[in-house]
Amino acid sequence: MNISDSERIESVLLNAKFKKVYCENLADFVIVNSCSVRQAAENRAISTLKLARKNKQVAIITGCSAVKEKKRFENFADFVLDIKDLKKWPSILPCPWQGSRKKRTFAMGKVETNYFKINPNYSSKFHAYVPIMTGCNNFCSYCVVPYSRGREVSRPVNEILDEVKFLLKHGYNAITLLGQNVNSYKGTISNILISEYPKIKFGKYCDFATLLKLLNLIENDYWIWFVTSHPKDMSLKLIKTIKSCKKVCHYIHLPAQAGNDLILEKMNRKYTHAKYLKLVKLIKKNLSDVCLSTDIIVGFPGETKKQFLDTCKLFKEVKYDMAFLAKYSPRPGTISFKMKDNVLMTEKKRRENYLNDILRKTALNNNKKYLGKTVDILVEKKNLGRTKTFKLVKFESDKDLIGQIVKAKITKSLAWILEGEIKN
Ligand code: 5AD
Ligand code: SF4
Repeated sequence: MNISDSERIESVLLNAKFKKVYCENLADFVIVNSCSVRQAAENRAISTLKLARKNKQVAIITGCSAVKEKKRFENFADFVLDIKDLKKWPSILPCPWQGSRKKRTFAMGKVETNYFKINPNYSSKFHAYVPIMTGCNNFCSYCVVPYSRGREVSRPVNEILDEVKFLLKHGYNAITLLGQNVNSYKGTISNILISEYPKIKFGKYCDFATLLKLLNLIENDYWIWFVTSHPKDMSLKLIKTIKSCKKVCHYIHLPAQAGNDLILEKMNRKYTHAKYLKLVKLIKKNLSDVCLSTDIIVGFPGETKKQFLDTCKLFKEVKYDMAFLAKYSPRPGTISFKMKDNVLMTEKKRRENYLNDILRKTALNNNKKYLGKTVDILVEKKNLGRTKTFKLVKFESDKDLIGQIVKAKITKSLAWILEGEIKN
């Protein structure tokens, strides 16, 4: 989401005649697009701001942390700006060619007022991030996102379709639909849209499954990934839609956060271990080649060793392909901030390592099924591509294949990467 936001920041500032420099030291302005999900990220943001000021650069902070702790960040930054006000930035920021910290005095070009409508300066020429919603209504007890990004706002269907069609016209091969909780997407629909798709059954709003169907109907051949899915909103209808839509990739990021029912309740996740597992079984039954990843928080306040073992059990049951493990980090303003952060850092690290060991085994075992198979890969970098199921594939080739979808025969499978030969 932050990468996508940064692409929009870049486009607004370029439109206002700012220039991007490729060496940090040469910049007059340094913008930190921060994340406040964990304390460590916030600390890194502060160090970058301090360095910028030391170098006599104008230090600017935006992103989640900026909204949440404006007062605190004013100590480290010249400007604390809300990403929601992005359209106003060019008139707020000083003009470097009129003296460093003076207020801008000339009129700027027209800047779009709707955040979603700001055309991003895409950082890739073949895979684009397309936000479909922002914000979150779930209030997991540990999470700052509902406070920093605010309540859920969905982007109208026609805007998403237009952006994707534009990208496809310009040769893009893959898109990733973005949202804190894509499964609760509720897009507004127009009468024109309803008349254009007489076979689609629309409700009052367009839900995520219907959005996928519409995107799948676009004629071009392309891949659709999406993040993030909240388990509580993952329906059979959505799973069946993913199955029936050829362009939608079988990779699902389904954050479990924990495996113990009491901890899940304290986290306000609204599902149990058994419910989550039932959902995983339903997904696997319908999408036999699916790859699953998760987010886990270890050491939530009060999490005992015994309760942690339920997360280990879940890992062995689900057999994840990937997991993003985080040590619990108390965030001011959240419900769990009032709970005692009583699991020692050493113990959090131990739990993280323990889960990583299980993950390495399940991922390696899952990857064996690719051996000898020929799969499509989207080449992201020289000699590195990604399958539709989001597996990295390393290969040797002298050709410049970046951005293309090519076939690769898998010759070796390791836990975190596959190796293959390109088929002509
Ligand atoms: N401490 C640790 N991890 C957190 N996450 C969110 N809030 C916290 C926190 N306070 C993790 C969750 C979420 C991911 C984006 O960040 O696992 O899914
Ligand atoms: Fe945070 Fe929970 Fe919303 Fe995810 S679903 S952004 S963890 S509040």
